[in-house]
Amino acid sequence: PRGNGWNIQHLYNYNGFWLAPVIIKSNLFLHTSFKSKPTDIYLASFMKSGTTWLKALMFSIINRDRYTFSDHYLLHHNPQSAFPFLDICDPVTNSEFSRPRLFSTHFPHTLLPPCITSCKLVYVCRDPKDVLVSKWHFLNKHRSENVPPLSLHEAFELFCEGVSHYGPVWEHVLSYWKASLESPEKILFLKYEEMMKQPAVEVRKLAAFMVKPFTDEEEEEGLVEKIVKLCSFENLRNLEVNKKGAEQFSTVVKVENHEFFRKGEIGDWKNYLSVEMKERIDGIMNDKLNGSGLVLGSSS
Ligand code: A3P
Repeated sequence: PRGNGWNIQHLYNYNGFWLAPVIIKSNLFLHTSFKSKPTDIYLASFMKSGTTWLKALMFSIINRDRYTFSDHYLLHHNPQSAFPFLDICDPVTNSEFSRPRLFSTHFPHTLLPPCITSCKLVYVCRDPKDVLVSKWHFLNKHRSENVPPLSLHEAFELFCEGVSHYGPVWEHVLSYWKASLESPEKILFLKYEEMMKQPAVEVRKLAAFMVKPFTDEEEEEGLVEKIVKLCSFENLRNLEVNKKGAEQFSTVVKVENHEFFRKGEIGDWKNYLSVEMKERIDGIMNDKLNGSGLVLGSSS
């Protein structure tokens, strides 16, 4: 195994999903050594589906008694910093930061150990066309110096074949969708597009799922709206901490905070994909999701 994990050339098919060696190693660690607590709450997503947003929302809902909105933790720290990522770093670092503990992962449901699938988990999905465009921008910034950038056309072809970090995206989404149907009390399945359209409704759903529903008093104070505003794309993107800092996930993986905030829109794919590309990707999606009851993206 070579490379720093960001290059598409360095992915391996591991139990049906394309992963970098360092990520496969973390998965083995999760299965052999990670110990969950029954109260833990997990956030799972396919890369570039709104993870950062969910981290901010879940963190501020859970910790709402600890901070005021004028001096909130998220005004001074990137959301990643309080929400350990199971796939690369030592997940126990910072894990006691929230009570209950919060963790995030991009692993598909089928690759999670039973100690995690027995806990509560929130999954967020997004129109794969927007995921593709967002991921293409992100990964080209993180390739090794000796690796040429991937053209959108190349990225598209590989994405359609499922060759994409944690791909195929359809299998990833389906793994959580099916599990959420089997255990709705354990998995809350959310869509980026619905969250954009009605954030307050989804924030209430999240709070109730995490067994921290808003009280009448909190509703009267407008707490839901305050959380929505604090975690909005515009607000987070414009904070000094997110313009300047960087998050060091491991010795080789460092991401500038501003890279987590690009456009934050529904349908940016229209600026990049041709009609043929859109039809091809929608066709694959419809085939894969056929009969599942799940609809993704613009047609939902
Ligand atoms: P775009 O590249 O389309 O702008 P992730 O956090 O899973 O890596 O996903 C990143 C995507 O979510 C990026 O999409 C980013 O701009 C968007 N995003 C980040 N914070 C957001 C927020 N608070 N609200 C909505 N979208 C957000």
